[in-house]
Amino acid sequence: MKKFAFAALAAGLLSATAASATDLEVTHWWTSGGEAAAVAEFAKAFDNDGYGDHWVDGAIAGSGGVARPIMISRITGGDPMGATQFNHGRQAEELVQAGLMRDLTDLANSEHWADVIADKKLLDACTLDGKIYCVPVNIHSWQWIWINRHVYEDNGLAVPTDWNEFVASAPALREKGIIPLAMGNQPWQSSGAFGVMAVGIAGVDAWLKVNQDKDATVAAGPEYAKVFEAAANARLLSEGSNVQDWNQATNLVITGKAAAQIMGDWAQGEFQVAGQVAGVDYDCLPGLGINPIVSTDGDAFYFPKLSDPDQSEAQLRLAHVLFAPDTQVAFNLKKGSMPIRLDVDLNAANACMKKGIELLQAGKILPSGNQLLSPDTQGQIEDLMTQFWSSTDLSAADAQARYAEIIASAD
Ligand code: GAL
Repeated sequence: MKKFAFAALAAGLLSATAASATDLEVTHWWTSGGEAAAVAEFAKAFDNDGYGDHWVDGAIAGSGGVARPIMISRITGGDPMGATQFNHGRQAEELVQAGLMRDLTDLANSEHWADVIADKKLLDACTLDGKIYCVPVNIHSWQWIWINRHVYEDNGLAVPTDWNEFVASAPALREKGIIPLAMGNQPWQSSGAFGVMAVGIAGVDAWLKVNQDKDATVAAGPEYAKVFEAAANARLLSEGSNVQDWNQATNLVITGKAAAQIMGDWAQGEFQVAGQVAGVDYDCLPGLGINPIVSTDGDAFYFPKLSDPDQSEAQLRLAHVLFAPDTQVAFNLKKGSMPIRLDVDLNAANACMKKGIELLQAGKILPSGNQLLSPDTQGQIEDLMTQFWSSTDLSAADAQARYAEIIASAD
């Protein structure tokens, strides 16, 4: 394959002499079927960059909550990898502040990332003190509920078009032995589903007041009371799920054991691996069908500072490859996410990705929670939601009071 024509080369960021083929270890937490299929596209693109480079896969099983502490301790402990996934936002903030991460600003400028990026917030989420430290690779919106159409059609029920219809359909589903709402047991899942319910039920303004302005009065107020009541009901709807990982919960929906799941659009990777077609086998309702919107959550790759000059150059080649239009299309089609640039060929986009892109283009965009709340605050919310979701002993009102306390001291 032809070597990439690097703007970075012209800009003097890479040496003009032949670069040496380099192995680069890349850590990430993409281990489900859909995720593995997607990350294989990155590996393929890097291995074919024309320089003989090789992606050494450093997958860490157990999702982000397990992987991130391992990644961070390797970087702080002097055993850095060539590149690593984080959610863009604040997860790598302390690593950047400690001077451990590579500044990519010159590469980003030479390739005009700011001009092609689908939403400025994505680069903002990579930026600290005016410098860019990561390559955003996708837009993953959390704001979806995924519905198995056949579960409804086969049982003579109307396929719900919003959250309220879905809740109303739950007793009929239970009668047929179907779990209305699939829910796994990892803390981030219940916390994420709660966030989606907050946007759908309390609305975007209330969500922004709580998450952006840290307004504890709104968190303790009547709009959020409705969200907590809905969540208390949702925990009953999810009874019987009995699975741990998010993709096991998605699988309950795919196999018709459950009707729906609130989950980010990485769930779509699983539907695709199972050969399911958006709009035919499954539906996706943004903003729970009540307040259609997409959030600019997602993933980015960060590059720890390395002492080896060959590896340092290979890092820039990888950063370039991840942002390149062809890689963006190949990866995001498999991942279920939207590309971070819209100057690419989106003909193959499925019905759900098209819905997401329309919302993006219409400016119906929420910032990512990862950008607004520190990892510490997010951890406190996850702990509360884990407890709330796993036991009806914690009432909606008590959980709301504790939530408002967390927001009052959030950073
Ligand atoms: C998210 C990540 C997604 C997805 C998910 C489940 O943090 O942004 O890419 O894979 O975790 O593993």
